[in-house]
Amino acid sequence: MPQDISPAWTPVALSTDLPEASVIPARIATAALALWRSQGGTVSAVADRCPHRGMRLSHGFVRGEALSCIYHGWRYGKTGQCLAIPAHPSLAPPDAIRVATYQTSERDGVIWVSASDERSDVPAHDGMTGLRSIALSAKPQTLAACIGSISVGDAIEWAVDGTKARLLLAPSGEDGTILVHLLIESGATLVQKVAASHALEAIRRHAEALEHQGETA
Ligand code: FES
Repeated sequence: MPQDISPAWTPVALSTDLPEASVIPARIATAALALWRSQGGTVSAVADRCPHRGMRLSHGFVRGEALSCIYHGWRYGKTGQCLAIPAHPSLAPPDAIRVATYQTSERDGVIWVSASDERSDVPAHDGMTGLRSIALSAKPQTLAACIGSISVGDAIEWAVDGTKARLLLAPSGEDGTILVHLLIESGATLVQKVAASHALEAIRRHAEALEHQGETA
C-alpha cells in the first residue's frame, strides 16, 4: 500500500464511474475487489474471485439486485450469498457458497470501501464533487511535492485556476501505482473543470518523471 493512504476507508471510485447495473474492478490495500451497483442503486464490494472456479467477478454482469459470474453464471446477492446456479436450477445453493463482502459507503460523489467490520464515518468532502480519476506511478509524497502541498493524509489540497480542488489517493495495482481521484468545488465552471483536469495530467507527467529520475539516479 502506498504510504500515507488511510487504511480505514479507501476511496475506490467516483460515483459517476459506477452507474446502475454495472460492475468494475477496484482495490483496497489488502484485496482486489469487484465493485458493483445494483439496478436499484445499492453499491456493494466483494472479493474479485468467484468461489466456483476463481473467475474475476469484475468481469461479470449485474441483473436486478444480483451480480453474476461471466463464466458459469453463478449469481450472488448483496450479502455475498450465492443465490442461483444456472446449471442446477432446482438446487437451493448451500449457505457455505458465498463470496467475501466489504463495507461500502458513498458520500460527496465518492465510493469508499473498508475491510473493517467496525462502523465509522467516511471522510467528508462537503461542497466538492468528483471530476475524474487517473492512475499514477509515483509516491504520494512526490505527487504532493509537485503540487506544492505538504498535506498527504486523507487528501491533498490544491488550488487551480482560481478554484479549490482536492486529491484523494488509493492503491491502484500491486505494482505500487496509485489511483488519484480529483474533486473540485461544486460551483466550478466548465472552464475551471477542464483546467483542473489538464493540470492533473501535467502533474502526473511531472511526478512520474521525478519518480523515474529517482529510480535511475
Ligand atoms: S467460475 Fe464463476 S460461475 Fe464458474
